[in-house]
Amino acid sequence: MIQLIIANNYEDMSKKASKLLISRIKDTIPLNLGLATGSTPVGLYKELVTEYANGNLDFEHTRTFNLDEYIGLSPYNPNSYSYYMWKHFFSHINIRKENIHIPPGIFANEQKVIDDYEEAIVQAGGIDLQVLGIGANGHIGFNEPGESLSVSTHIVELKSETIKANSRFFENKDEVPKKAITMGMGKIMEAKEILLLASGKEKAKALAQTVKGIVETHCPSTILQIHPNVKIIADKEASFLIADRIRASNNCILFSSDRMEQYG
Ligand code: F6R
Repeated sequence: MIQLIIANNYEDMSKKASKLLISRIKDTIPLNLGLATGSTPVGLYKELVTEYANGNLDFEHTRTFNLDEYIGLSPYNPNSYSYYMWKHFFSHINIRKENIHIPPGIFANEQKVIDDYEEAIVQAGGIDLQVLGIGANGHIGFNEPGESLSVSTHIVELKSETIKANSRFFENKDEVPKKAITMGMGKIMEAKEILLLASGKEKAKALAQTVKGIVETHCPSTILQIHPNVKIIADKEASFLIADRIRASNNCILFSSDRMEQYG
């Protein structure tokens, strides 16, 4: 079941998302939080950092598991997702270093890295709340469209459209790594609750497919339709293709903005 909540704009999306996370961080101890990078959740992290700075939030008992990392980038590389996470979030809160999990971009033994990452999630008891962004091609994590989807953490060749989209963070397109390591669809779908964020008209087509399209591997996000507890918070631009048409269909319920207040 997908619940779609329409936000007015990026800021509103970030605030609504932070309300949900704050509620879970306060209520679930310990909380296993799956996290995404990219431009979409930057505002969410900013909100959470502000709440922490104001003394309203404690990350002592929060464990995090990031979705993905570029292959070949060390945590000290400003374009790595590890660097991103410290810059936007971890450096500003009281999370314990040993509770942070991000797949490494540089390693000697691929299978060990994969097994260790899967095991760390299992040992923690699974992910309680998984935050996702979405690619314009429907990828989640770096599970790219294709003939099949991988269940476990795996190494993936990035699609040319993903490399192009992500080149905005690099000096030029050639610098974007061609491969990434990503959590597979299995651990994402095993999360007890999923929160997908989408902002901007570039995401509108993928978002419409996510909630209304046929469930298929060529648009990985459509698989979320068969998860029992998915919330999507999308701004007006990202939801313009669907918002007026899906008052209540079988697999998606549209909430007015105010319904999110319940998480406050
Ligand atoms: C990043 C990730 C990706 C992004 C997606 C959207 O950890 O998992 O799936 O969420 O590529 O990226 P942005 O938010 O930059 O549009």
